Order: sequence, then structure tokens, then C-alpha cells
Amino acid sequence: MEMVTLNNGIQMPIIGYGTYKVVGQQCVDCVKEAISAGYRMIDTAQAYGNELDVGRGIKECGVAREEIFVITKVWFRSHESGQCRDSILQSMKHLGMDYIDLVMIHWPFGNTYAAWRDLEKLYAEKKVRAIGVSNYMASQLIDLIEFNDIVPAVNQVETNLVCQQLPLQKVMAQYKVAHQAYSPLGQGRLNAMFGDPLVLAIADKYRITARQVALRYLIQSGISVIPRSVDPRRMRENLDIFSFKLAQDEMMELKALDKETPLIGSSQDPDFVASAMTW
Ligand SMILES: NC(=O)c1ccc[n+]([C@@H]2O[C@H](COP(=O)([O-])OP(=O)(O)OC[C@H]3O[C@@H](n4cnc5c(N)ncnc54)[C@H](OP(=O)(O)O)[C@@H]3O)[C@@H](O)[C@H]2O)c1
Repeated sequence: MEMVTLNNGIQMPIIGYGTYKVVGQQCVDCVKEAISAGYRMIDTAQAYGNELDVGRGIKECGVAREEIFVITKVWFRSHESGQCRDSILQSMKHLGMDYIDLVMIHWPFGNTYAAWRDLEKLYAEKKVRAIGVSNYMASQLIDLIEFNDIVPAVNQVETNLVCQQLPLQKVMAQYKVAHQAYSPLGQGRLNAMFGDPLVLAIADKYRITARQVALRYLIQSGISVIPRSVDPRRMRENLDIFSFKLAQDEMMELKALDKETPLIGSSQDPDFVASAMTW
């Protein structure tokens, strides 16, 4: 497994398994299946309502807990001082773990400073091995970094062929914040892109699928990815992206597909933020 070295020296797998909307016994089974397919990183969140299921899957998978990199995220309704800490201790209980590898602020809403300082304390107590953020755009990230002690290890943001976050990538590289792509396959909303003649021609050349082209492009750009699938065959397909390398001209052509258009929503889009306030 290829790894990304985080800014505190911790090693994180470059590919992991996403669990958004996968709950209950299906989640337990999918986590076990993903680990048996070779995934060694699982991404969950308090808001997904599946930490118990993810924890059960990891417990029952037959691979030691220490070999799995576990990510969860604190929900913005728990950002007040002390509340964030309590919510993470609750996440640890749900997961059945005495430490979590990476905890993120899920969205930059509410009292993010109080939440970050709670996370800094949990990190100092070694209850979490790394702390990070999610859905932070460049200005929010710089502000958090400049007014706190610990630089986030990771920023998990929507990143796929049509939303590559190129300006944000520059800022993250400058501050040594690792880039993790959520919805790397566009959450199933990118069917047009997977029919793009350029993507199909590259897929044909390497005898792979259009989705593998998209995932390979991201990891070859140094971006960690966390695709989700409940289908064991697709889980394996998404992981099978290490036996070939895209040529430099193909990387440039894929870069040119960027439309700078988020599909899920941006924390800097007023309509999206207003709707998020009802969550
Ligand atoms: N931090 C955040 O705010 C945030 C937001 C969204 C997501 N996330 C994280 O990122 C993870 C991944 O993102 P996502 O779940 O939004 O979407 P995604 O991984 O981009 O796409 C998932 C969709 O693609 C389909 N799919 C997966 N592999 C495929 C393949 N090889 N061929 C054809 N279809 C395939 C899946 O269907 P099947 O299951 O039927 O295969 C599912 O409908 C999430 O699960 C979650 O852990 C984080």
C-alpha cells in the first residue's frame, strides 16, 4: 500500500474506503469486505450514524486494529469547548477503540476554534494520532493555521475530475496540509464525465475502467482518495490502481478537464451554507 506522510510524521494510506450512507449490517459487511479486499483506511463521521457499525466491522475483520487507519469527523453542532471533546470520546466508544488515527472538523461552521483547541488537547493526550479538517477552503484554512498551534494534518475536500481544487492544492502544499479527496467518483453524479472520450481513450490504452483513470489521476497527483462502493467487485476495481502509471501528457489532459465546479457543495457558497444551517 502506498502511504502519505503527514506533517507530524504519521503514515496514512493513500487510498481508503468511504462509508457515507452505508449503515447497519450492510456497513459491517462492507467494512469487512473492504479490509479483505486490501483497504487499510476507513473513513466515517459522527454524522454518518455508522461509527458503531464501522467499529464492529473492524473488530470482526480478522486484521489487527493497529493496521487500520481510522478516520472520523466531529459534527458542527458539537463544536463548543468541551462538547467537541465529549463527542470524540463518544466516537471512540462507538468505534470500540482507545485511540483514533485521524479526527477532523467536518465543516467549518460554528465555533471551529473551540473545537480545534479540544482536538489539539486530545492530540496532546495521544487519544488521536493526527487532527485535520474537512471542507476548508483556502482562506478558512490559512486563518485556522495562523491563529492556532497545530497545523491540520489533512484537509478532506470534494475533489474529482471536474472539481480538482487546484488553487486550494497550492495553499495546502505551502502549509504542508495533505489533500484527501472525498467523492472522488463524483458520488455517482459524474456519469457524463466517465463517458468523456479522453477518459475512455486512456482507460482503453491501459485496459482499465474510466473510474480507475479518475482515481489513478488523483493518487498520482499525490492526493489521497476514499471511494465508496457497496459492491465487492467495484471495491476491488477501485483499489486496483497501482499496477500502471499515467503518462505526463495524459496527466496534463486530465488536469484540463477541471471545471472548478463542486457537485456536493462548498462552504463558501451562501445558498449551500444557508441550507446546511438546517442540518
Ligand atoms: N467530508 C465530507 O464532507 C464528505 C462528503 C462526502 C463524502 N465523504 C467521504 O468520501 C467518501 C466517498 O465519497 P462519496 O461516497 O460521496 O462518493 P464516491 O465515492 O465519489 O461515489 C460513490 C458512488 O459511486 C459508485 N461507484 C463506486 N465505485 C464504482 C465503480 N467502480 N463503478 C461504478 N460505480 C461506482 C457507488 O455505487 P455502488 O455503491 O453501487 O458501487 C456510489 O454510488 C464517502 O463515502 C465519505 O466517506 C466526505
